[in-house]
Amino acid sequence: MKKIKLGKSDLFVSRTAVGCMRMDSLDSREAERFVHGAVEMGLNFFDHADIYGGGKCEEMFGEILKNDPGLRERILLQSKAGICPGVMYDNSKTYLLNAVDGILKRLHTEYLDVFLIHRPDALAEPEEIGEAFEILHHSGKVRHFGVSNHNSMQMELLSGYLKQDLLVDQLQFSITNSNMVRSGMEVNMETEGAPDRDGSVLNYCRKNHITIQTWSPFQYGMFEGVFLGNPRFEALNKVIDKVAEKYGVSNTSVAAAWIFRHPANMQILTGTMKLSRLEEICRAEEINLEREEWYRIYLAAGHILP
Ligand SMILES: NC(=O)c1ccc[n+]([C@@H]2O[C@H](COP(=O)([O-])OP(=O)(O)OC[C@H]3O[C@@H](n4cnc5c(N)ncnc54)[C@H](OP(=O)(O)O)[C@@H]3O)[C@@H](O)[C@H]2O)c1
Repeated sequence: MKKIKLGKSDLFVSRTAVGCMRMDSLDSREAERFVHGAVEMGLNFFDHADIYGGGKCEEMFGEILKNDPGLRERILLQSKAGICPGVMYDNSKTYLLNAVDGILKRLHTEYLDVFLIHRPDALAEPEEIGEAFEILHHSGKVRHFGVSNHNSMQMELLSGYLKQDLLVDQLQFSITNSNMVRSGMEVNMETEGAPDRDGSVLNYCRKNHITIQTWSPFQYGMFEGVFLGNPRFEALNKVIDKVAEKYGVSNTSVAAAWIFRHPANMQILTGTMKLSRLEEICRAEEINLEREEWYRIYLAAGHILP
């Protein structure tokens, strides 16, 4: 399976990243089977956050690592912190350092390959984040860093206080939630898609070699549901199904191929807990959608070409 470079690092990662946010929906045997199956498929990148399942998702993964000591070196582990759900965002040095200690303990590992700031905190002091990253890096607890849900200027500001490169920005992106590309095609217009909600983050990431990881690649709204096979998106599904028929793949593969087709070389971060669906997403790497097909799918989602 083709691997891509993560940001400016020397890490080579599978284009499909396995999100572990929903791991607590499995029992421990199912989770073990799922993780081993994903690795056998050639996937080497697993995403966590301290808050997933209130820590249970990391704990379950940690048990899998404990039971298979050789596994840790074969995979890359990423986790995130900075959200206290429903209470506040906290990017302070103390919070981040404590959070990483908790993550390492739950995951039964001595280091994270990548650590991300989960969400920008309005009260964040970039100097403190820089100090936290330096301590984490120097101690060997974290090898590489990145952010999630950050816009261009937030990354630019933060970078000024970091000794390490930001490798990743994890952002919501799917056929239906595509403002990242949409605003770029409706520049300066009065149209619905014109507002640039992220400070041209797509171009910023491309210019600075930061890998975009697309969270919720098959969802519409904010976790409202999957658009695939959903009667609310009849026109979109009609087009996706037609393209799927042409390539002899499933609708999931086409939705993934739509993201892979973008030249920014994004990493798809899926939350499926089914190996069969992971296989469908991996199959998308073999499909290179024609330009006209990419736009046909985009338009069928209700977007416009002004
Ligand atoms: N940085 C952030 O703020 C942030 C926010 C949210 C998520 N994340 C990360 O991103 C990952 C992915 O997010 P997500 O889980 O919302 O993404 P997703 O891959 O779009 O959604 C996966 C969910 O959709 C279901 N599903 C139903 N039909 C599907 C189909 N045809 N194809 C694919 N999935 C289908 C899956 O069920 P089955 O299990 O039955 O396949 C699963 O429950 C998370 O695991 C987490 O690691 C990050």
